[in-house]
This record gives sequence, C-alpha cells and structure tokens, in this order.
Amino acid sequence: MANTFIPGYTYGQVPEAPFSMHDFELLKQTVMFTEKDAEYLRKAGEILHDQVNEILDLWYGFVGQHPHLLAYFAKDGKVDSSYLQAVRKRFGQWIHDLCEKPFDQDWLNYQYEIGLRHHATKKNLTDHAQAAPLIHYRYMVAFIYPITATIRAFLARKGHPAELVEQMHQAWFKAVVLTVVLWTYPYVKQGEF
Ligand code: HEM
Repeated sequence: MANTFIPGYTYGQVPEAPFSMHDFELLKQTVMFTEKDAEYLRKAGEILHDQVNEILDLWYGFVGQHPHLLAYFAKDGKVDSSYLQAVRKRFGQWIHDLCEKPFDQDWLNYQYEIGLRHHATKKNLTDHAQAAPLIHYRYMVAFIYPITATIRAFLARKGHPAELVEQMHQAWFKAVVLTVVLWTYPYVKQGEF
C-alpha cells in the first residue's frame, strides 16, 4: 500500500503547519511520548502492516452502525460511497504513517492538513464530495477511544508477549492523542490553541 498512488494523499506537498517543532516537542512531553514509544510504534507498524484492511473493516463497520457518524459521509441522508472509499485508502495509509514515519516537519505539516480536511475549511474538497460541511469537534476527540481500544486485539494477534503488546498499545494511544490534538487546531480560536 505504501507505494501505490492514493488520490488526495499529499504527504510532503502541503503548506507548513502553524505550530512549531518546538511546540510539538512540548506536546510530546505532555503525553509522555518518548523515543521508546517511537520504537514501539515501529514494532506496531510491522504487526499491523498486513492487517490494515481488517482494521478498516472494523472501523468502517463502527461508523456504519452509527447514523450520527455516517452522516458525515452523506448528503441529504444519502451516503456517498465513493467518498467513503476514497477516504478509506488514505485512512489505511495513515495507519502506516502513524507507525512508520518520523514525526518530523513533513509529518507535522500533514497533521495540519488532515485537521483542515475534517474542519469546514477543507472538508469535501479533496474528493469533490458534497457531504456534511465539517466533522464536529466533539466527535474528533471522542473517536480517540474506539481507534485506540480496538487496535489492541490486532497488536496481540501475532503472539507477542503481553508486556510488549501493552507497550505498543500505550505508544499508539499517545500517538493518536497527539494526532487529534494537532488536528483540532482549526477548531480553536486564534491564540487559544
Ligand atoms: C478523513 C482518521 C475522526 C470522518 C480522515 C482521514 C484519516 C482520518 C486518516 C484521511 C486523511 C487524509 O486525507 O489523508 C481519523 C481519526 C479520527 C477521525 C484518527 C479520530 C481519532 C473522524 C470522525 C469522523 C470522521 C469522528 C466522523 C464520522 C472523516 C471524513 C473524512 C475523514 C468524512 C474525509 C474528510 C475530507 O473530506 O477530506 N479521517 N478521523 N473522522 N474522516 Fe476522520
């Protein structure tokens, strides 16, 4: 997946994020993210690599079972399945990126871009969709839980020791919290982020 062309996936080709690497460092310290976590994420990436489709089936199933979430992929009550499919490919790539890519300036810039794509600033633009105009802030934060809770079984599936599974799971949790904090930048009043 990492080498196939994904429409709308513009990693490395987006404007600079309005938050600095220094601010990001302080954020990492605040969620207790260390170099060890970066290593556990790499390991998680190896384990999750060939399970991405199954993970997406589960997450999409979760969204599909909740009309209030599915509504963000719909217009006038009608779900846009090509929008769902287009986003799914980038969602899969995100799993790889979260685990495998260094948290450098390119990574930081793409977090800003993904935040804009959930926010009214850029939602629907990438896929020329006409669905709901933004994802509401409250669900951005709330989604941290299902995205974290459900990944554990996939991390555990290949028979690694329970302690390592726990360390990878904690690293994933911290990385998702960091990600969602950065994504919510456009939702916060200027000067208050
Ligand atoms: C886009 C993950 C919250 C609906 C995406 C993308 C990813 C992602 C990776 C594609 C980014 C790209 O374009 O490269 C996540 C994660 C969330 C979260 C990790 C929170 C932990 C939500 C929630 C909803 C949602 C709560 C509501 C159903 C969407 C939609 C898009 C999208 C509609 C397409 C946005 C566009 O038009 O570009 N999400 N998401 N997401 N997500 Fe989320």
